[in-house]
Amino acid sequence: MFLNLWHSFMQGRPVLTQASLSDASALAELHEASFARGWSSLEFEAMLADHNILTVVARRAGPATSRRPVGFVMVRRALDEAEVLTIAVARSHRGKGLGRDLMEEAMRRLYADRISTLFLEVSETNEPACRLYRRLGFAKVGERKGYYAGAEGAASGALVMRANLR
Ligand SMILES: CC(C)(COP(=O)(O)OP(=O)(O)OC[C@H]1O[C@@H](n2cnc3c(N)ncnc32)[C@H](O)[C@@H]1OP(=O)(O)O)[C@@H](O)C(=O)NCCC(=O)NCCS
Repeated sequence: MFLNLWHSFMQGRPVLTQASLSDASALAELHEASFARGWSSLEFEAMLADHNILTVVARRAGPATSRRPVGFVMVRRALDEAEVLTIAVARSHRGKGLGRDLMEEAMRRLYADRISTLFLEVSETNEPACRLYRRLGFAKVGERKGYYAGAEGAASGALVMRANLR
């Protein structure tokens, strides 16, 4: 654990930890910057206080450390299954593998909690997210046509995806 933190610090890579209640407003900002419909700080506070929800955050490491998260993933557990509620990475940090690191860390923790299956839902037009999930072993198990409302009445379908963790 300490060695991992030290390596991240030396390489300036974000450090992954479990979120705390005090992250609520920063997570609301990150979420609002990433999605058409944001979730409020109050909604994040309620989710962070929920013991069935796992939230992994990425914080910048290095000498000029800002403790504000630059990415996060939230997963809800139910018996031996779980679903990804949301994942977002700050625009300035995208395309560097952070989304993948966050998902892998969440999946490791779920595996340790004896979760066997992880589900998620993603817009079929969200190319970075679809690539990320396929690379992690998720496969399509369902489709909801016209699920997401788009600009000027255009709608896109939602893919339901599943990964087996054990
Ligand atoms: C989806 C998201 C979390 C990915 O985070 P990230 O840190 O950029 O992801 P990574 O750097 O780990 O890259 C993941 C994959 O996406 C690809 N990718 C990254 N940016 C891309 C882009 N602009 N266009 C196409 N593919 C892209 C990467 O190449 C990688 O695929 P690969 O492993 O096949 O090379 C991030 O784009 C984001 O926050 N998007 C807005 C919120 C969102 O859509 N969340 C998902 C909701 S289901």
